[in-house]
Amino acid sequence: MAFSIKVNGTQHNVDVDGDTPLLWVLREALGLTGTKYGCDVATCGACTIHLGGSVTRSCAVSVQEAGEREIVTIEGLGASALHPLQTAWIEQDVSQCGYCQSGQIMTAAALVAKGAKPSDADIDKAMSNICRCGTYNRIKAAIKRASGQG
Ligand code: FES
Ligand code: FES
Repeated sequence: MAFSIKVNGTQHNVDVDGDTPLLWVLREALGLTGTKYGCDVATCGACTIHLGGSVTRSCAVSVQEAGEREIVTIEGLGASALHPLQTAWIEQDVSQCGYCQSGQIMTAAALVAKGAKPSDADIDKAMSNICRCGTYNRIKAAIKRASGQG
């Protein structure tokens, strides 16, 4: 079945089953491989995107459930210039293997949107993404840096 979805500001027509998770539409149909596959059960956060402006685990939402809501992936976040979080990530040398990091940044981007200055507790509450390399302290430092707190 054909669906029209808007991803990173561009409209795309995709011909997939309606119950195909957005994760696979992004990766397989559109070639946007920055969104990663981890657990497939909405737990790890590797597949995190923004859907209609909200942090969403793309393995758990089908293309038909997404409807016409706008989709933003890590490729769209830094399309014209690096997002402040991406700059902070580089400055804090956050990534180790890197696999979880696009999902981490997408979750963090919603947290710092509109100039928010999250506390440690705010960050702990929002950042439920799993990092097997254990970069949590650096992630917290980068979020604080990007939000003007150090
Ligand atoms: S792959 Fe979607 S949350 Fe793990
Ligand atoms: S950097 Fe390796 S899983 Fe997070």
